[in-house]
Amino acid sequence: MNNAISGFSKLSKEDKINWIANQYFANPSEAEETIKQYWNNNTQLQQLHDEFIENTITNFYLPMGIAPNFLINGNYYSVPMVIEESSVVAAAAKSAKYWSTRGGFKAKVINSEKIGQVHFIYIGETAKLESFFNKTKATFLSATESITKNMQKRGGGILDIELRNKTNELENYFQLHATFETKDSMGANFINSCLEQFAKTLKEEAQNYPDFSEEEKNIRVVMSILSNYVPNCIVRAEVSCKIEELAENKIETPQEFAEKFVQAVNIAEIEPFRAVTHNKGIMNGVDAVVLATGNDFRAVEAGVHAYASRNGKYSSLSHAKIENGIFTFWMEIPLALGTVGGLTSLHPLVKMALQILKNPSAHELMQIVAVTGLAQNFAALRSLTTTGIQEGHMKMHLNNILNQFQATKDERVAIAKHFEKNTVSHASVVELIENLRK
Ligand code: MEV
Repeated sequence: MNNAISGFSKLSKEDKINWIANQYFANPSEAEETIKQYWNNNTQLQQLHDEFIENTITNFYLPMGIAPNFLINGNYYSVPMVIEESSVVAAAAKSAKYWSTRGGFKAKVINSEKIGQVHFIYIGETAKLESFFNKTKATFLSATESITKNMQKRGGGILDIELRNKTNELENYFQLHATFETKDSMGANFINSCLEQFAKTLKEEAQNYPDFSEEEKNIRVVMSILSNYVPNCIVRAEVSCKIEELAENKIETPQEFAEKFVQAVNIAEIEPFRAVTHNKGIMNGVDAVVLATGNDFRAVEAGVHAYASRNGKYSSLSHAKIENGIFTFWMEIPLALGTVGGLTSLHPLVKMALQILKNPSAHELMQIVAVTGLAQNFAALRSLTTTGIQEGHMKMHLNNILNQFQATKDERVAIAKHFEKNTVSHASVVELIENLRK
């Protein structure tokens, strides 16, 4: 069957669903029913969600959970998390509780500078371009005044613009490399608007610059766009306590635990195959809060992983040490987040999530997100270096399998009893359900 279509976006929502159902499903009416099952009865709310993107046919649910008891810089937070992976929220909550009795998490924003670039081609004498840039730098700033006025009132704006010569790497390639402070907004629209104005100014001013030859006047802007690599938008999260305070059920010998934990982090520092998984565990926490608060998780992911390879080799984002009987576990990560603008005031659940977090500033949200990532990393390493990860995972997984099979209350009791003594695996759960149902 030819599944191509022209003018899909112009079809009504009903016709789009109809087309999809008929193209891809043997039973189109059943498919339509599934799609519509996830519509919200509140038509206004549904319309709001429909309009977030194009060609919307339905809503895609992800669970939103709460990890309570996060003690951060002396204040308690209940952290909303949106994630599909079972055991992530439970692990965050466990870690939060554990550290709440050991001094809590300390977090600090080190810097919150954002970056944007105008990439352009200039064919001519570099010295002339440099002197042109120095003479017109003030014009770049004055030409963006109408864009920056409100941001400046909030204490943000353009921090600096530099001319960068990249011709060693690519012929005739230069950049305007600009830095920004965007306060409580993530700032993507603000930065991109400034950059597009810089590009316009660059072309206009070059055309009128008397020292340029005709070829030099003809600057070609390739593109103007913010960078999601934000190595100067950094937050630090940390926990520490005396080694003996690490003791609890799972950790009988704190010294051994601390040493093994530090070893696990050391391995992630030098071994990229482990570092990627180690950092993925951190991102379980980071992404879940980033999503719940309506932030751009793709931007965060791209920036964080680039940062993890900033020294030329992909490495652990977190670090751990034992010094003078004190165990310290910390990380510094780049996070470009906003608590105003974007989805933050549009999506009712994002608004709620922010309210649960006591309507944080962007800096406070950076701290909360980094702490959740560190807590998740702690939980993963604690399991990996003690009982192994499968114990907790399979318990949650068991529940998912039982839901999938719509297990009755009695079946659940019988199955839970069986797996008190036996190892959970997908096949063994299925076999047991099937036996019970014979
Ligand atoms: C699973 O989502 C995350 C872990 O693999 C992280 C890690 O290995 O550190 C458990």
